[in-house]
Amino acid sequence: MQAASTRGGGVAGSAAKGDGDTLESGGYHRNTSHKPMLSGVAIKITSILVLIVTTVLILNQSSYPLEFFHNHNSFPGPSCENSNADSSSFHQYTSRIPPSSPAKDEDMELEKMLRGAAMKDNKTVIITTLNAAWSEPNSLFDLFLESFRVGNGTAHLLDHLMIVAYDKTAYERCEAAGLHCYAVTTEGIDFSGEAFYLTEDYFKMMWRRIDLLRTILELGFDFVFTDTDIMWLRDPFKKFYKDGDFQISCDHYWLNYTDVNNFPNGGFNYVKSNNRTIEFYKFWYNAREYFPGKHDQDVLNMIKDNPFISRIGLEFRFLDTTHFAGFCEPAPSKTMDKVITMHANCCIGIPNKMHDLTMLIDDWKRYMAIPPSNRNSTNRSWTVPRICS
Ligand SMILES: *[C@@H]1O[C@H](CO)[C@@H](O)[C@H](O)[C@H]1NC(C)=O
Ligand SMILES: *[C@@H]1O[C@H](CO)[C@@H](O)[C@H](O)[C@H]1NC(C)=O
Ligand SMILES: *[C@@H]1O[C@H](CO)[C@@H](O)[C@H](O)[C@H]1NC(C)=O
Ligand SMILES: *[C@@H]1O[C@H](CO)[C@@H](O)[C@H](O)[C@H]1NC(C)=O
Ligand SMILES: *[C@@H]1O[C@H](CO)[C@@H](O)[C@H](O)[C@H]1NC(C)=O
Ligand SMILES: *[C@@H]1O[C@H](CO)[C@@H](O)[C@H](O)[C@H]1NC(C)=O
Repeated sequence: MQAASTRGGGVAGSAAKGDGDTLESGGYHRNTSHKPMLSGVAIKITSILVLIVTTVLILNQSSYPLEFFHNHNSFPGPSCENSNADSSSFHQYTSRIPPSSPAKDEDMELEKMLRGAAMKDNKTVIITTLNAAWSEPNSLFDLFLESFRVGNGTAHLLDHLMIVAYDKTAYERCEAAGLHCYAVTTEGIDFSGEAFYLTEDYFKMMWRRIDLLRTILELGFDFVFTDTDIMWLRDPFKKFYKDGDFQISCDHYWLNYTDVNNFPNGGFNYVKSNNRTIEFYKFWYNAREYFPGKHDQDVLNMIKDNPFISRIGLEFRFLDTTHFAGFCEPAPSKTMDKVITMHANCCIGIPNKMHDLTMLIDDWKRYMAIPPSNRNSTNRSWTVPRICS
């Protein structure tokens, strides 16, 4: 049940190969352009020099892989003029990270769990993460589960929900609810408290999640990741786009479904397992090094139009807030007839979320109790958000 400490410990060990490839192509280029002017001896001397320089660079990069990029003075951000060159060095760094090498036992355990939870036809699982603070009795976790039960055609989805428990309390709560439970720990970190927004533990929890989701993709499973403060009121699978590798909900959806200038929210996404999404999750995870103090969603906003993404051919799809709604946009304007999920986003603190989501569930129950023939003549607006905004 124990899961790994954070991965990536093998960076230095596997660095040599990637660097070798990189520098080899650079060296080759240099040789060909100078060849005609050089005698045989000069070629040999040049080769030896190239070899020495190469070796020195490899050693440097192995010990200080990140410093190498800092010397290049930037992360390949969207505003960066020289973003092509930089992103290619970033790509090389990405490729050097070994794919989940050390933790074989853990992956087998995870795979077994995923197999049990996945939908039979298409290897899809629904994933959420949970810690003690969020799983207390009469807390967000209960509301989350209740939403599936009172939602329209969502109860069966609970069979495919896998809870990633960050601590013992959360694990026990999950077991008691009769769900698929996977315990994940990170060495030396206690995740059980409320990880207050933007504290160090919060960041570690967020990034551990991105790392785990990448492993799930590598094991060949598609997933819907959902925060626990998202109410599932209808079956989202009917509304996902047929194409697109990475579909994500939005705080603000003001453009079209392919436009990266929408404001995505990492709390809800549907990701298909393929080489593009695996590469993307590595890229996203590694990008955290360049943006210390930023959480996964901020970093996503910074990398979402990076040239790396079109190079690997990854396609984003942004989910319309009409269906995948949240408190960031005034909920009363969202008709209950169309809402599939409702997120207590733009709302900080468990008590605030609890308050408004409880009201939301009540709204929904009232709505579902109206006979369909009368629905048109009643007010189908939400009474929330109240405390959240
Ligand atoms: C996957 O299969 C399940 C039935 O096992 C179905 O309900 C769901 O809509 C399917 N999802 C996709 C994305 O096709
Ligand atoms: C619930 O789902 C059924 C079957 O898809 C549909 O006929 C009905 O209109 C839905 N009710 C609501 C309130 O969405
Ligand atoms: C979506 O927006 C982008 C950028 O504004 C534009 O290039 C693209 O053509 C639009 N696509 C659709 C399907 O409207
Ligand atoms: C990734 O690509 C390789 C070949 O390039 C292929 O064998 C493998 O099945 C792909 N993996 C996924 C998850 O698509
Ligand atoms: C509700 O009203 C809409 C138009 O406002 C109409 O298209 C729909 O058929 C009506 N539904 C019912 C159940 O009366
Ligand atoms: C429906 O209820 C909401 C919230 O109580 C209110 O703001 C809105 O004005 C009502 N709409 C109608 C058409 O009565």
